[in-house]
Amino acid sequence: MKAVVAGAAGGIGQPLSLLLKACPLVDHLSLYDVVNTPGVTADLSHISSIAKIDGYLPADDGMKKALTGADIVIIPAGIPRKPGMTRDDLFKINAGIVRGLIEGVAEHCPDAFVLVISNPVNSTVPIAAEVLTAAGNFNAKKLFGVTTLDVVRAETFVQAITGTKDPAQTVIPVIGGHSGETIVPLFSQAKPSVDIPKEKLDELTKRVQQGGDEVVKAKDGAGSATLSMAYAGYRFAERVMQAAKGKSGIVESTFVYLPGVEGGDAIAKETGCNYFSVPVELGKEGAVKAHNIIGSANEYEKKLLQTCYGELKGNIEKGIDFVKNPP
Ligand code: NAI
Repeated sequence: MKAVVAGAAGGIGQPLSLLLKACPLVDHLSLYDVVNTPGVTADLSHISSIAKIDGYLPADDGMKKALTGADIVIIPAGIPRKPGMTRDDLFKINAGIVRGLIEGVAEHCPDAFVLVISNPVNSTVPIAAEVLTAAGNFNAKKLFGVTTLDVVRAETFVQAITGTKDPAQTVIPVIGGHSGETIVPLFSQAKPSVDIPKEKLDELTKRVQQGGDEVVKAKDGAGSATLSMAYAGYRFAERVMQAAKGKSGIVESTFVYLPGVEGGDAIAKETGCNYFSVPVELGKEGAVKAHNIIGSANEYEKKLLQTCYGELKGNIEKGIDFVKNPP
């Protein structure tokens, strides 16, 4: 399994690369960034794990060398939020960065699983899909927007109420998109079920939707979530790799192009959105089945979903338009 991190020298990229270097599923790790890749690569290369490692800058066909032969490409390249910025504010810069990297994927490793972390995910994933489509290489089963941090936050924040010993043992689907009110945690669908007092539900839901702001504020101008994001990105990448190697029964919430995934058409019809995060069954080919759990949402969650749909549709259209009518 060859894994590539694009944006590897950044706040997310470095800890994510560390986790991948230590992962026994990875035989070869290639790092790519526009700055500082040699240093990060040299540092990680001293770790006595299985994965061989190399790293590249753009010079001398660096992107091509990093991407060629990749089985999985994880993209945390781009600028992070500063206080007062929304994820959508990042659009102008990150849209171009993601477009450029996906053009490289289409050319050098069109069969790789592609995991997009760069925000705004609601728009960067449609950008990736449009670029791959234009290159004749789009396989919706292999393109994922990484929304795992929302799931990880939901698991963690609900623990303050339930008091369970291991928060990760409570599975909470978080659906919709990956910014503010497009993030919809379905606590009613938690497994095992959780009992959240009515008066605490609003606060808990908002904390998951705005969880990133807590970190942006605390870092006070030094960026957004990096360490928790690296953990979440690694957790999702590991599950994609485990499924690719034949492990069955893995289901993770992730932002996918619904019409290209089995079971997705009905969800697209119901939500009016072609891209949506839902629990997706992972298999050797990637996203093998989208689970429609929208019908099981309770009345409170259905209201949240109504708010989500409108905003998410706009974010998706913005991404598509960026590729179809470049600014
Ligand atoms: P950072 O600024 O610390 O790192 C970004 C890295 O990308 C830098 O090393 C930069 O040199 C590199 N880069 C820029 N242009 C590039 C290009 N064309 N090719 C390769 N590398 C390039 O930012 P950080 O904190 O690591 O965040 C990265 C992205 O992840 C941001 O867009 C941020 O909003 C997003 N993010 C996503 C989350 C999610 O849940 N999906 C959560 C937190 C952040």
